[in-house]
Amino acid sequence: MEALPRLRLALVLSAVICFSLLERSSALSSQDLQIVNAERRVSFSFLICTYIISHNVSPSQFKPGIVENIGTPPASEILLAFPPTQVDHLALVKAAVTAGKRKKKSYSPLDVKPKEVFDAPNGAKYFTISLLNPLKVGESVTLEVLYTLTHSLEPFPLEISQSESQLVYYHDSAIILSPYHIKQQITFVKTPSTKVESFTRVDPTDRAGTELKYGPYEDRPPYSFSPTIIHFENNNPFAVVEELVREVEISHWGSLQITEHYTLVHAGARHKGVFSRVEYQSRPSFSGVSSFKHLLAKLPPRVHSVYYRDEIGNISSSHLRTDSRKSELEIEPRYPLFGGWKATFVIGYGLPLPDFLFESSDGMRYLNFSFGCPLAETVVDKLTIKVVLPEGSKKPYAVVPFPVEQHLETSYSYLDVVGRTVVVLEKKNVVPEHNSPFQLKSLDTQGQIPEHVLAHVARCAPITLLLNSIEQSSFKFIASPIRHDVFITLSSANNVSPMPQTSVSFVVAP
Ligand SMILES: *[C@@H]1O[C@H](CO)[C@@H](O)[C@H](O)[C@H]1NC(C)=O
Ligand SMILES: *[C@@H]1O[C@H](CO)[C@@H](O)[C@H](O)[C@H]1NC(C)=O
Repeated sequence: MEALPRLRLALVLSAVICFSLLERSSALSSQDLQIVNAERRVSFSFLICTYIISHNVSPSQFKPGIVENIGTPPASEILLAFPPTQVDHLALVKAAVTAGKRKKKSYSPLDVKPKEVFDAPNGAKYFTISLLNPLKVGESVTLEVLYTLTHSLEPFPLEISQSESQLVYYHDSAIILSPYHIKQQITFVKTPSTKVESFTRVDPTDRAGTELKYGPYEDRPPYSFSPTIIHFENNNPFAVVEELVREVEISHWGSLQITEHYTLVHAGARHKGVFSRVEYQSRPSFSGVSSFKHLLAKLPPRVHSVYYRDEIGNISSSHLRTDSRKSELEIEPRYPLFGGWKATFVIGYGLPLPDFLFESSDGMRYLNFSFGCPLAETVVDKLTIKVVLPEGSKKPYAVVPFPVEQHLETSYSYLDVVGRTVVVLEKKNVVPEHNSPFQLKSLDTQGQIPEHVLAHVARCAPITLLLNSIEQSSFKFIASPIRHDVFITLSSANNVSPMPQTSVSFVVAP
């Protein structure tokens, strides 16, 4: 299995952890905390396999999660451990303290940071969760941890024909890896269908319908681990955007012009044999079940202009639905995408700038735009967002709610004399949870970074500040045209079957 190439799959993990602190009289170390009850839920959705770990207790037997504090000093940090193989695939780790149950459940988000530990058993990697209120002896806290892994499902067989289902391997541990003693734990793995070829048993292990249950296991010492492999059907389309470059241009004309360059691949089991359109169309439920036919791009409301930049040819058909809250662009390639097939295409559109320009309480204007990928249910291996500011703009900096790499570039178009400042944001391993707004702000009049920005940036972990500013006078608002033709190009690459490229055009109503 180790010899198989890394598969381009995505995995989302989420975890809920209940800790209880026991009282002991030794000095407080990780050994002084223990997890009273842990429940983990692993699931696999769309192209992504969603692996949910919840350290939780079923309601009927629920005792508040207790990390028992055996030492005297209060515990302010909880450690999360990951096997080294998972760390490289971690797209996101979130933690919250929860209170109450079901509908009345409340969440208080906590800071999670990577932590270097040199003598960690089995090369485990750590994250620390900082508690808002240190846990005193005898106190308990219930935590929920959600994490997302990408590229963690391996198609096997590696190649399938058009009429076959896609099967994948998923590697995990029946026992939750933790630096703490876990008194009781259970893991549920939800498979996309009832078709499970095989799974490792670590008794007690049960399977019913689409659910595999590992545990309950009692009293497992720290760093217990018990490898499992599950081989199951997963016909979710594995749509991976290998690279996405989004160019956001703030024009002098009161508009935001967006151009998005996609390199999309179906990262599932490779298609073998010849593609038969007749078979594909006549037996849709048996033929090409893991392929995908549509892609949905979720765009902001009031998309007012879309253009196409043709690189190889135009694509088949598309539909744009728009209401006051959102626009949805459905792209329907002329040929379905099978495993190993690639498509590169460009989506371009315009948006009214006033929808994205805000003013903070101190009178500073900023651009508020969404990070992430507009294509629904995709993982992006590498995302680059380039915000091109009007000519002469000075000292912008972006505030993003998670770590991203930032730098400035200067771009020259033939009309520019001075050149335009481009803020470049880069992030690898982007999942739908990263589709949250970011802000592009500027220095205050004294050329200082405002205190509250520094504070925010400090909270948002390693973000580099870029100092420049959007020149407010450059924005002029001009009524946008009410009707535009939209063109999108989907071009074939590498091993995409050579289907005819046809043109699409749609009319965007205001
Ligand atoms: C940014 O825009 C989103 C809506 O797209 C809004 O919910 C959010 O409050 C805005 N953030 C700021 C800081 O203006
Ligand atoms: C793409 O479609 C548009 C509109 O139908 C057309 O004007 C353009 O020439 C097409 N480009 C190619 C390369 O077919």
